[in-house]
Amino acid sequence: MSFPYHRPRRLRATEAIRRMTAEVRTHPNQLILPAFIREGISEPVPLQSMPGVVQHTTDSLKRAASEAVELGLGGIMLFGVPAVRDATGSAGVDPNGVLNRAIADVKAEVGHDLVVMGDVCLDEFTDHGHCGVLAPDGTVDNDATLPIYAEMAVVQAAAGADVLGPSGMMDGQVAVIRQALDEAGYQDASILAYAAKYASAFYGPFREAVDSQLTGDRRTYQMDAANRREAIREVELDLAEGADMIMVKPAMSYLDVLSDVAQMSPVPVAAYQISGEYAMIEAAAANGWIDRKAAILESVLGIRRAGADMVLTYWAPELARWLK
Ligand code: PBG
Repeated sequence: MSFPYHRPRRLRATEAIRRMTAEVRTHPNQLILPAFIREGISEPVPLQSMPGVVQHTTDSLKRAASEAVELGLGGIMLFGVPAVRDATGSAGVDPNGVLNRAIADVKAEVGHDLVVMGDVCLDEFTDHGHCGVLAPDGTVDNDATLPIYAEMAVVQAAAGADVLGPSGMMDGQVAVIRQALDEAGYQDASILAYAAKYASAFYGPFREAVDSQLTGDRRTYQMDAANRREAIREVELDLAEGADMIMVKPAMSYLDVLSDVAQMSPVPVAAYQISGEYAMIEAAAANGWIDRKAAILESVLGIRRAGADMVLTYWAPELARWLK
């Protein structure tokens, strides 16, 4: 018997055998495109820190949504950039607010061929940029924020959102949203809970994308990067409160968390490959330091391998074209 006896390289010898034995792959149906709609612009506005991503007009958003259908994407997650902000984020609960109109427009465009999701959070709508309303002492007031989220979710469901995505990390947010949806007759609207969402430096480019007014940080409500076990607690709470799907965010720096969560979750798990993850790869590729396409494919495959059923990624349309 010759040495070595065990030769794992046999299964790597050709593209055909690698393809056949791959443990995971990425399918366009699993991809969700995050998209920004900005009020009061007549042309899409490119984002400097996210090359290839724009703030949409109504028309360009509708085109992006119908393209998403053609490409077989799973869904679209909408974020609004309002022209006017105030302390309580009232544009978020206004049925004529930019996000709610966009949800209706996209829904009219795609019907049931694409899952339409709305971001349920106040940070895009508040003049202080926090995800909730502020108490007199300047802290983010959890319980005063909850009824606003509940109203926002109902308005989004009324506009046609199939899925509500509470991303503000307020305690109890899933429960109040579920109850409000049910009471308003939207029993069939689902909740994708941002269950384990970490305070991250990698959200940087998103702040440009939504013209964030934030000074300071979100460390009193988003999770601490040091904590792995705590993610399980957040997921369990959201499940108990009625989450239909859960999310881990960001993705690349939290693959251990994603793996833990994927192993214990009885519901579908999403991971959000966020703006800073996108920007890093684009910047390195623009400098010629990495192979752009290979790096993008590998980054998403890693997220799938860690256990994500669904991946929110700004590359969703391009990935779908490559994967076809
Ligand atoms: C909050 C929200 C954020 C992102 C998605 N939803 C920003 C934040 O929490 O600061 C970030 C997404 C990204 O960075 O791509 N509404």
